[in-house]
Amino acid sequence: MENVKLTSLSSKGGCGCKIGPADLTQVLRNLPTPVADPNLLVGLDTSDDAGVYKLTDDIAIVQTLDFFTPIVDDPYDFGQVAAANAISDVYAMGGRPLTALNIVAFPISTLDKSILSEILRGAGDKLKEANITLVGGHSINDQEPKFGLAVTGVVHPNKVRTNTGAKPGDKLILTKPIGVGILTTSIKNNLLTDEEVKHVTSVMTTLNKTAAEVMENYDVHASTDVTGFGLLGHGSEMAIGSNVGMTIYSDQVPVLPRVRELAESGSMPGGTKNNYKHVEDVVIYPEDMDSIDRHILCDAVTSGGLLISVEGTKADSLLEDLIAKGVEASIIGDITEENKGKIIVR
Ligand code: CO
Ligand code: CO
Repeated sequence: MENVKLTSLSSKGGCGCKIGPADLTQVLRNLPTPVADPNLLVGLDTSDDAGVYKLTDDIAIVQTLDFFTPIVDDPYDFGQVAAANAISDVYAMGGRPLTALNIVAFPISTLDKSILSEILRGAGDKLKEANITLVGGHSINDQEPKFGLAVTGVVHPNKVRTNTGAKPGDKLILTKPIGVGILTTSIKNNLLTDEEVKHVTSVMTTLNKTAAEVMENYDVHASTDVTGFGLLGHGSEMAIGSNVGMTIYSDQVPVLPRVRELAESGSMPGGTKNNYKHVEDVVIYPEDMDSIDRHILCDAVTSGGLLISVEGTKADSLLEDLIAKGVEASIIGDITEENKGKIIVR
């Protein structure tokens, strides 16, 4: 296989969620609303992770798609990350993923075909791990490689976990560390050791399957996954959508090793800076928190963890179950009656 630094071929990463990067969101949200359909349970208006459409009283389908340019150099790893990231939105809605379609853009005349084979093999292995059947896909010839998947799952219409149901008294659990955007930008800049690349890759390729299965046993009020808009971006969607206040305890938020140092030395992704601006009016930071630490909380994540809002009295038990199953979960905040639609960082 040709030795290519895949990340050098990508101009700009995308966002992990249904809508897209913050600067495109406005356009996409202003789409003319088609016919009102009573079976549409979750649509465009709440910035949720996936669309949910009721088929019968017992079954709704969960639909999502994600694709982006390479964020790691190893094509097999890139395929795995893209798959884990795309599937995650089904888990975030409380759904069980069933089928997937590949989305491929590839410079077929200039890049070795075996690179594409490896990307597809990586994705295929993740689908297998998640028990998902690949049913097809589409490919185009494109200067810049891009890869992702459309994933369809099922959920009981009464068991949909949206990002709008958080209640005062809830505690917030996060199931993966943050800092992925700053680290993958550092990969592009050749600043990570092989060991460090391996670590951040393993965080991204970890499915949210186990976390979602554990969550299923609890009366979770809201959930989403932390992706392109970062912890505070997706948190703000939950706070605004649920019409509650949110407190995040910054010293409880797990951050990957060396993130602070690399951010200080300039590995700050454009998406992270955009996220920071995007939530400016929503987030109140401690006065003594510096700009770097504020940006880390806004860092654009790929294939991040679930952010779960659960009844305060159940939080410790859910946390214990998650940790017992090997999920790197932490309680990072709570939901309040006051400060509606705002995030207070402490
Ligand atoms: Co998504
Ligand atoms: Co999402």
